[in-house]
Amino acid sequence: MEKARFSRVGFILAAAGSAVGLGNIWKFPYMAGQNGGGAFVLIYLLTVVLIGLSIFIAEVYMGRTTREDGVTAFETLAARNGHIWKYAGFMVFTGVLILSFYTIVIGWIFKYIILSFSTLPISVGAAGKLFGAMVSGDWEGQFAFFNIAFFLTMWIVARGVKRGIERVNLILMPLLILILIFLFFYSMTYTGFEKSLTFLFYPEWDKLTQSSLLQAVGHAFFTLSLGMGTIMTYATSLPKGENIVKSSFYVAFIDTLIALVAGIIIFTFVFHFGEKPSQGPGLVFISLPALFHHMGVMGNVISLLFFVALAFAGITSAVSIVEPTALFFINRFKMARSKALIIIAVIVYILGTMAVLSNTKAYGAHFTYFGKGAFDLMDFVSAAILLPLGGMIIAIFVGFVIERDKVHATMSKYMSDRLFNLWYFSIRYIAPAAVMIVMINKLFF
Ligand code: TRP
Repeated sequence: MEKARFSRVGFILAAAGSAVGLGNIWKFPYMAGQNGGGAFVLIYLLTVVLIGLSIFIAEVYMGRTTREDGVTAFETLAARNGHIWKYAGFMVFTGVLILSFYTIVIGWIFKYIILSFSTLPISVGAAGKLFGAMVSGDWEGQFAFFNIAFFLTMWIVARGVKRGIERVNLILMPLLILILIFLFFYSMTYTGFEKSLTFLFYPEWDKLTQSSLLQAVGHAFFTLSLGMGTIMTYATSLPKGENIVKSSFYVAFIDTLIALVAGIIIFTFVFHFGEKPSQGPGLVFISLPALFHHMGVMGNVISLLFFVALAFAGITSAVSIVEPTALFFINRFKMARSKALIIIAVIVYILGTMAVLSNTKAYGAHFTYFGKGAFDLMDFVSAAILLPLGGMIIAIFVGFVIERDKVHATMSKYMSDRLFNLWYFSIRYIAPAAVMIVMINKLFF
């Protein structure tokens, strides 16, 4: 077992770095936009607090008490209660699947960083064509940028927990926050700002559909990096005596705040220039660049800052998606970190290449399975199935399989009995029930 430990800030920033990702700056705003704004935002906030946070604390608990990789953590804790539960830790391998498409999107962002130095597309239509041409036509370019994103991620993880992961987060997270603060104040000078606030914080309940509810629950998992042992793995490196409940609150708070701030910034520009908020996944890659075009040279600067922030958010998350599998290989097979990463790299490289090609016109048909391209399939299988399943397993495991007294003995150091009971009730009943409902709906309706 590696004995490296984060510093106190190091852990909070690393966990926040994992949580704050494409989910916050790309996914959350477009989901809020598609689901009518305020009401969705409120439901999302509620699910983060009621479901996300309690599973987050459960993951921290498991990592902190065992100080083992995810697979071993389940085996150790399930030892007496036995059998089937000891296999639950294999959820760490979900990371390989997520990483394969996540690094491709980071690659797109790198391309848009470069684009920020040239003339931005003059209209949303032109921006849409540009984005479409990249995704469906230019596999070589995408492949090149995917490589950069991927090797960068691997290089950081190869340097280890302290010199790689902690250091990168200590640098990139404050920079990311600074950029967002600047963009936030800059957006305040636009008249769209007020409309943006109204859109995001004034709930119009009739706009809420059943599907928005499900999306909000699903996103609560994704945005907090839950359901595959990422938080568990980071928690193995917690410094001694750390108040794990407080740290979890901080991370969830930072994560939520950044999603909201990103949303406010993006919708300020969207409303200022009279665009629709409901553009969908293209909101950041299609609507924004065209809007930035209207700002002249300043638009190029804002575009650059925005995509750099997005890239930082993405890289600190990508790193956290690799680490659980890496730590498992290192622990279990006494492998050198570099060797573990080479094995992971080979798999991600193959899957990533398939994902890139699956979006192209020329090769898409060869990489389509069950009616979905490899890229969409990896996204769907991991985000809609494996992560919620993993989260539910963690909740049930801590809630029912481990003895209550054992959990209480550890957690009562950080929680009042009232809070403990609330948390325990959530992981036993609320979280599993919510996940079950989401999954059944996503899979069958
Ligand atoms: N939370 C990140 C985001 O919002 C993504 C992420 C990082 C993640 N690590 C994870 C998602 C582990 C699920 C599991 O973009």
